[in-house]
Amino acid sequence: MSLNTSLDPAPDSPTAAPAAAETRAPLTPSTLRALVRELAERPDQWIHHVRLSTEERWYRRLVAEDDHEVWLISWLPGQSTGFHDHGGSRGAFTVALGELEELSLGGPDQGLLIRRVPAGTTRAFGPEYVHDVRNTAVGPAVTLHAYSPPLSSMAHYDLRAGGLVRTSEEGPEQW
Ligand SMILES: [Fe+2]
Repeated sequence: MSLNTSLDPAPDSPTAAPAAAETRAPLTPSTLRALVRELAERPDQWIHHVRLSTEERWYRRLVAEDDHEVWLISWLPGQSTGFHDHGGSRGAFTVALGELEELSLGGPDQGLLIRRVPAGTTRAFGPEYVHDVRNTAVGPAVTLHAYSPPLSSMAHYDLRAGGLVRTSEEGPEQW
């Protein structure tokens, strides 16, 4: 009697390669918060990239991973985002230099919330969050933003008497 002792797999056996379509869970807002905070404390990683633009907010993507991305943004006085969502991504941003103001709608009893976001402050939010971020200070501001999953779309809203009204949507080809 002969035994087949070969360890080679049969030519048509399944391979051990991981599934190509495996997707990782998005990072949590608290993880994104920690990420931008840590990066803000290491200006050697990003300060040399900063530019200021009178045309619009200046921005540059610093990190592009499968499960998250990081953006560096500068804001001159008067520059703002308008109300927008993040296409279902979770996010966080921290003010590294200067000061911003953030507007959001609270619950029915709260109405419009206006927060000062000075340097050293970090805001983190879930996938449904809508806000308007603006530089109402007298000097420029620099911020670091992280999103997970990476931004796939952003809708813009107008604040009207009845609440937020969706007005437009943009995709990655526009940023
Ligand atoms: Fe935002």
